[in-house]
Amino acid sequence: MSATPTIRRKVTTRRLIDMKRSGQRIACLTAYDALTAGLFDAAGIDVLLVGDSVGNVVQGHDTTIPVTLDHMIYHTQAVIRGTERALVVTDMPFMSYQVTPQEAFRNAGRLMKEAGSGAVKLEGGRRVLEAVRMMTDAGIPVMGHLGLTPQSIHQFGSYKERGVDVGEADQIKQDAEALQEAGAFAVVLEKVPAPLAEAVTAMIDIPTIGIGAGSGCDGQILVWTDMMGMSTEFRPRFVRRYAELHDVIQNGVARYIEDVRTSRFPDSEESYQ
Ligand code: KIV
Repeated sequence: MSATPTIRRKVTTRRLIDMKRSGQRIACLTAYDALTAGLFDAAGIDVLLVGDSVGNVVQGHDTTIPVTLDHMIYHTQAVIRGTERALVVTDMPFMSYQVTPQEAFRNAGRLMKEAGSGAVKLEGGRRVLEAVRMMTDAGIPVMGHLGLTPQSIHQFGSYKERGVDVGEADQIKQDAEALQEAGAFAVVLEKVPAPLAEAVTAMIDIPTIGIGAGSGCDGQILVWTDMMGMSTEFRPRFVRRYAELHDVIQNGVARYIEDVRTSRFPDSEESYQ
């Protein structure tokens, strides 16, 4: 269990901003279903992100591009059912907010009304500002996402670090300020140099949530299957593995198969006489 005490009150966007002010770090993880959401929530996680990484992690795609708004609604409903305390934030999937600000606004509304989400997240800076403004004006909390934005993979051509050159670093700084100005309550900084993330964190009053962005952010997020070692292949340097569930699950299943094949399962204790 956690070494730092967890306040059991429901986490709000206001609380996250207060946490930044008082220097308390914000712990976030992804979740895609009620079972894991319940486990992470009971452990004291502050934010559960129903990430469009569901496309990679659950659906088996190479990118997040195929994920639809209906998928996000379905997974958010499950996460909400498993969550009591954490703030649940839902990713707006590719093409649910890029066409027009009005369409983005309507889709964000669906995530709040139909899925029960506490906030939405969308990728990008300048190009999404009008949509962000419409949402925040209507009371829809928005989390921004800058740096490596996986929905733009076909434009970037790779998942490598962003904001390395001065021009791109300046753009990220300007975008972070503009998102704050448009009413966003937090910004994810993905795979950017630690000094840049630290500079952005110092520039804005809303929390920065880092993933591969060093220790200077106000909070951290990881994809839960990465940090719990569910896969043997994906091992980027920014992921610390807190368990090797891949081995635990495979060993357990192999033992089960062996027990079934040798008639050792079930035994008389596990049967109704
Ligand atoms: O989709 C996702 O899981 C994310 C996090 C990596 C920030 O956007």
